Amino acid sequence: MNILNLKNRTIASQYVATELIKVMKARPNAVLGLATGSTMTDVYRYLVTLINANDMELNSIVTFNLDEYIGLAPDHKQSYYTYMHQHLFNHHKDWNKSNIYVPKGIAKDLQRACSDYEQALRNQGPADIQILGIGENGHIGFNEPYSPFDSQTRVVDLTASTINANSYHFSHIEDVPKQAISMGLDSIMSAKRIILLALGSRKKDIVKQLIEGQISEKLPASILHRHDNVEIIVDDEAYGANN
Ligand code: F6R
Repeated sequence: MNILNLKNRTIASQYVATELIKVMKARPNAVLGLATGSTMTDVYRYLVTLINANDMELNSIVTFNLDEYIGLAPDHKQSYYTYMHQHLFNHHKDWNKSNIYVPKGIAKDLQRACSDYEQALRNQGPADIQILGIGENGHIGFNEPYSPFDSQTRVVDLTASTINANSYHFSHIEDVPKQAISMGLDSIMSAKRIILLALGSRKKDIVKQLIEGQISEKLPASILHRHDNVEIIVDDEAYGANN
């Protein structure tokens, strides 16, 4: 696991966007594992700029998102489907809709939606690159503490701390969904390369725990120590460089 402090949000986001575009350029049918959340907004902003600057072929690029809230329709303002379209897919007409995979949070048969998703990931994958944020409780995707390391895509209950952390996107905390579909830890580990991005002082404690190195289901992100191609990209604040 390589840990790299890139000092600030701008440099760190540009780095992740550059790594994504390099993969897309090298392999026109690349498979990208994508994340949402406030950490990633500048990554997608720079990626859009780089896509436009490079006349990219997007038609055969395949993307898999980590998660989606249960009960939110794709066109709901706070769905991750909407987030991905606002921040990335709506900015270029060549993205191929049938190659965009976001779990279906309003599927009638949620178990089936999960197994279909996992199957699609296994058929199209492995992801050439997976980008991840991290929750203050150590979650990756919505794999909350004590998620099994061998988990695949499934319905998960969100913890109170995640509901609270994500509530600022919603008018009332009661509006935050209590469940989500999340790619599992085993599914995430199938990626060929993983970049986890952690920005800001809120992530300092969990980054410290992660780099201390103990591997435990209590800290889901600690599974990344078992992957041989992982980078943890942080800024000064998440690194605790200023204290
Ligand atoms: C989002 C996801 C989550 C977030 C994490 C950090 O798709 O899977 O694991 O990456 O909750 O969220 P932010 O970036 O909002 O701090």
